[in-house]
Amino acid sequence: MSEHDSTGQQKNNCIAIFASGTGSNAQKIIEYFTSPLTSLQKGRRTKVVLIVSNNANAGVLKIAEREKISSLIIEGKKFYEDGYLSELKKYKIDLIVLAGFLWKIPSSLIQSYPDKIINIHPALLPKFGGKGMYGSKVHEAVINSKEKESGVSIHYVDELYDHGEIIFQAKCKIEDDDTPDILAEKIHLLEHQYYPLIIEKIIMEQ
Ligand code: GRF
Repeated sequence: MSEHDSTGQQKNNCIAIFASGTGSNAQKIIEYFTSPLTSLQKGRRTKVVLIVSNNANAGVLKIAEREKISSLIIEGKKFYEDGYLSELKKYKIDLIVLAGFLWKIPSSLIQSYPDKIINIHPALLPKFGGKGMYGSKVHEAVINSKEKESGVSIHYVDELYDHGEIIFQAKCKIEDDDTPDILAEKIHLLEHQYYPLIIEKIIMEQ
């Protein structure tokens, strides 16, 4: 990803996180890229510079405040008209990371950020994805289908819900007495473990 700006200075890779809810993944990603130890070791130049939410009451906005990261509350009409493109350009966003963001991404934004918008889904796509498959609904569907395993999928975002090319998957076992809540906990652990690492890998490779 762009390593130098027009003045020849090394440039930060700037991440925007889009989230509608609690933001535990956002918190882990922020921590990963601000950890002084790993930043120094890896000469890391990546920063979460913007949190975008469609929900003014989302927990993720409190995280943004606490971490002193700018936030942007978006509304549907403008999102589907211009994708808030000029706002994203202002923050020089290189990668858009969806972490529990419930709105579909408009085509204009996908075309402006080709292969630079990724999402995490709490199941093993292509199964258990698509419109309406979010939160506990996913885990209920997985358990009702008597699956023996579930996991997380990180994928590029295209015009369809949970459909773009899969970048990474990690699995966990489902025990016979697992409830949707227990499965959700297992999945969250996997998400927190892998999402920051995969984001870093994508940034290094672009
Ligand atoms: C995660 O389970 C993610 O897979 C899904 O939305 C959830 C967000 O959780 N897309 P959190 O707000 O990061 O805790």
